[in-house]
Amino acid sequence: MRRTKIAELLRTEPIDTEVLVKGWVKAFRNNQFIALNDGSTPHNLQVVLDFENTDPAVTDRIKFGAAIGARGQLVESQGKGQKVEVKASEIIIYGDCNPEEFPLQPKRQSPEFLREHAHLRFRTNTFAAVFRIRHALAYAIHKFFNDKGFYHQHTPIITASDAEGAGEMFQVTTLPLHKIPRTESDEIDFSQDFFGRATNLTVSGQLEAELAALALGEVYTFGPTFRAENSNTTRHLAEFWMIEPEVAFADLDDNMSLAEEMLQYVIRYALEHCADDLKILEDRLIEEEKTKPQDQRSEMSLTEKLRFVIDNQFVRLTYTEAIDILKNSSPNKKGKFQFPVEGWGTDLQSEHERYLVEKHFKKPVILTNYPAAIKAFYMRQDEAKEGVPGPTVAAMDILFPGIGEIVGGSQREERLEKLQARMKEMHIPEKELYWYLDTRRFGSCPHAGFGLGFERLVQFVTGMTNIRDVIAFPRYPGNAEF
Ligand code: 4AD
Ligand code: MG
Repeated sequence: MRRTKIAELLRTEPIDTEVLVKGWVKAFRNNQFIALNDGSTPHNLQVVLDFENTDPAVTDRIKFGAAIGARGQLVESQGKGQKVEVKASEIIIYGDCNPEEFPLQPKRQSPEFLREHAHLRFRTNTFAAVFRIRHALAYAIHKFFNDKGFYHQHTPIITASDAEGAGEMFQVTTLPLHKIPRTESDEIDFSQDFFGRATNLTVSGQLEAELAALALGEVYTFGPTFRAENSNTTRHLAEFWMIEPEVAFADLDDNMSLAEEMLQYVIRYALEHCADDLKILEDRLIEEEKTKPQDQRSEMSLTEKLRFVIDNQFVRLTYTEAIDILKNSSPNKKGKFQFPVEGWGTDLQSEHERYLVEKHFKKPVILTNYPAAIKAFYMRQDEAKEGVPGPTVAAMDILFPGIGEIVGGSQREERLEKLQARMKEMHIPEKELYWYLDTRRFGSCPHAGFGLGFERLVQFVTGMTNIRDVIAFPRYPGNAEF
């Protein structure tokens, strides 16, 4: 007999037919009522045991967490809370689960505890919801770009370049660490390494995406990226997934509009397709908020927050304008910022970003035209402008409530001489990036793109407080378990 998934059963309700369901026991009441879940839906199916005709040895093995099958008639339920149930004529035990040893319990367990049991936390209602939503968001992103005519590109994971020029790379080598070969001038002899040169895990697929965009027009990547930055925050991972679209003949405005449209599309998709899972997470968040002091609680529920983002246009302003607002803000004047905003040119801290988004505008914000000195070498250099103290680039960062930066992007420097000059200033050797410069030598054109941190998006949509809880097996300083 074919197994029916619970999601399908609850959708089609084939009353009075014989069905076979398989899943994990979520609860077992009165030696009779099993709440069964198979992951296909957040909803459990009630399975009712035929008490008299079930072998007590089998009944004894129906425990929270056990994997079982149930065969029987699907009937209308007499009980509250469900429309249908299965009257089991046969129970099959696939995998026992000893409640004495099983780390999960049928009650609320802290995210920290569950992170230490990340191999089992899929089994909890919260994490099952998070990972179903993560899937839906990935699918929505592919659908969004596919429907627009973008081509998905796979860019290298092992590379010899540092796309961001920030030096936060994990090295990749097969050189014996106990006996590293050295050159005559006592440098590490990478010519003996696997690739005949020094390599690392990619920090971004952008540079390769640009090469593709300058032929295919509109492309995007969706791949893993790696950053060896020692950031122990709720928003940083050492391994995260990034979506990087790149568009030929586009400028900064086109870039912002694309990013805004994409974010609103995928959030709307989640609201329309993941309502039940979002409800679980919304309720979870309400419980979590109750443990916080009143003034730190969110004014909006999870779904209200998501609707708010799709119903409102993002605010666009320049870095220079933002600095003005921050300098004159009351937390700055009252010395409430940990990093006081003194002048033009410094990078914004997350407390400043959050002030702009959550207090000042109360909307997602797109900040543009940052000082060149705090941004990557590939960003397009702006014309000097009155009232702007120093050189800026056509950069944009999108800031979200509770998250801070969710997207970073720019129009790219398409002019060869300007790009070469900037690389020289930043000590980036031309010979390492000759292939990148070639696109500026041959048929260069204006183009733009951005990177969306996938986990930060999943974090926003699920309302999870810590980014380590939206990727199955998080990598962060001191942790590469599982
Ligand atoms: O701002 P970033 O560093 O930009 C780039 O990598 C560009 N190459 C993107 C492009 O223009 N194609 O990173 C982009 C986004 C950030 O806005 C953030 O959402 C996410 O990636 N991100 C991280 N997410 C989790 N953990 C980290 N350590 C992250 N670093 C960046
Ligand atoms: Mg950035």
